[in-house]
Amino acid sequence: MRKKIVAGNWKCNTTVQEGVELAKAVNELVAKADAKNVVVVLGTPFTHITSVVSAVDASLINVAAQNCAAEAKGAFTGEVSAAMVKSTGATHVILGHSERREYYGETSEILNKKVALALANGLTPIYCCGEALSIREANEQNAYVKTQLEETIFNLSAEDFSKLAIAYEPIWAIGTGVTASTAQAQEMLAYIRGLIADKFGKAVAEETSILYGGSCNAKNAPELFAQADIDGGLIGGASLKAEDFLGIITAY
Ligand code: 13P
Repeated sequence: MRKKIVAGNWKCNTTVQEGVELAKAVNELVAKADAKNVVVVLGTPFTHITSVVSAVDASLINVAAQNCAAEAKGAFTGEVSAAMVKSTGATHVILGHSERREYYGETSEILNKKVALALANGLTPIYCCGEALSIREANEQNAYVKTQLEETIFNLSAEDFSKLAIAYEPIWAIGTGVTASTAQAQEMLAYIRGLIADKFGKAVAEETSILYGGSCNAKNAPELFAQADIDGGLIGGASLKAEDFLGIITAY
């Protein structure tokens, strides 16, 4: 059975102290809730990871970085390598988020290096894809997402591919309050699963966790998560409040 994953992406929010408090609050709520069948991940800024890892129960809460370097080590001022992320106790790394592609010039070439280093260091990549509004309006979202996958994670071996999760985040739904309709989200995730089946076979496709992201909240999560191909969510704004995030975790 593929894993159900609810991952928070805190983006560039919270101080270390605020982040630790938030993580503790999520931990406390998850401990009381019946959420055993959901893998909960907190995607924190690099600066927070070690403190957050220490503050939570690792059997309930996983911690992710939101990025890692495209180089293993060396003279790359300001970069944080996959090995460094791993050494904090983080288990996951969000890669290819549209904000990184758009604002920091992350190309498929760069992402291939990051994914390879994340996997080589035993981190689970949560690999993001998704189209801008203009592409959706031109009804070219399927071809666009297909290219994003073909240029990157579809180059992996089936064995490596089976170690990652995918998050489909339509850019027009991120932080806008506009959620993709349940039908739009399900349609795209089923399409992605079909592409995986064509490339790696049905068994791999059935085991791949594919998440939806984009204005997902406690209110719309139950309907989204009830869809056959939606295996959870990558959550921005609603992951910054413990109660709201718990509402999504318990939406199954
Ligand atoms: P919001 O949930 O704030 O729309 O953000 C989604 C996102 O980008 C998560 O990575």
